[in-house]
Amino acid sequence: MLTPTVKPAQANRLGVLISGRGSNLQSIIDAIARGDLQARVAVVISNRADAAGLARAREAGIEAVHLDPRRHPDRSSYDRAIVAALQQREVDLVCLAGFMRLVGAPLLDAFPQRVLNIHPSLLPSFPGLDGQRQALEHGVRISGATVHLVTAELDGGPIVLQSAVPVHDDDTVEALSARILVEEHRLYPEAIRLVLDGAWRVDGRRFRRV
Ligand code: GRF
Repeated sequence: MLTPTVKPAQANRLGVLISGRGSNLQSIIDAIARGDLQARVAVVISNRADAAGLARAREAGIEAVHLDPRRHPDRSSYDRAIVAALQQREVDLVCLAGFMRLVGAPLLDAFPQRVLNIHPSLLPSFPGLDGQRQALEHGVRISGATVHLVTAELDGGPIVLQSAVPVHDDDTVEALSARILVEEHRLYPEAIRLVLDGAWRVDGRRFRRV
């Protein structure tokens, strides 16, 4: 019997939200292309028209949408527009990848335990902006990257995966960021695979594999 070489259409549809460079988006696209992640990116949405990640998406044949927050009276209205765009594309899992906005109840309610974020520190240390700079200025010897489920608490949801890197004596923010970014690019596709796999539950603050 012939083994089919064409994979069936993937049911796992990702919606990736970005604001800028899009290197984590690229790592997801690449992991899918390599066959390491059984999913497809159904849509990329940016709050900024000039996000380089939009071009990366189009290059890969992925629909790329700019949703302008200034066209909405408040955050909730903007969040609802994002939800509508994601639902139209039948997205299963939302991945924040350098999306520089707080996400609110409309998105979290529409995708319960289905919104992921990547953060450039070992949470709960150094949440918020400039995680790498915060780590360097605090003087920690180890930092890293965290992928977590998104909740209403900023960078505070259950931790899916983390990866650590050393902080060197002569580090600059740029050097540390680059070291962390290498881990981010490895970690995010792996965390997405784990979450899509479904063999987990949230127990209090803990993300636990079952
Ligand atoms: C990454 O460092 C990510 O951890 C943080 O924002 C940055 C986005 O970079 N949330 P990129 O747009 O994926 O290149």
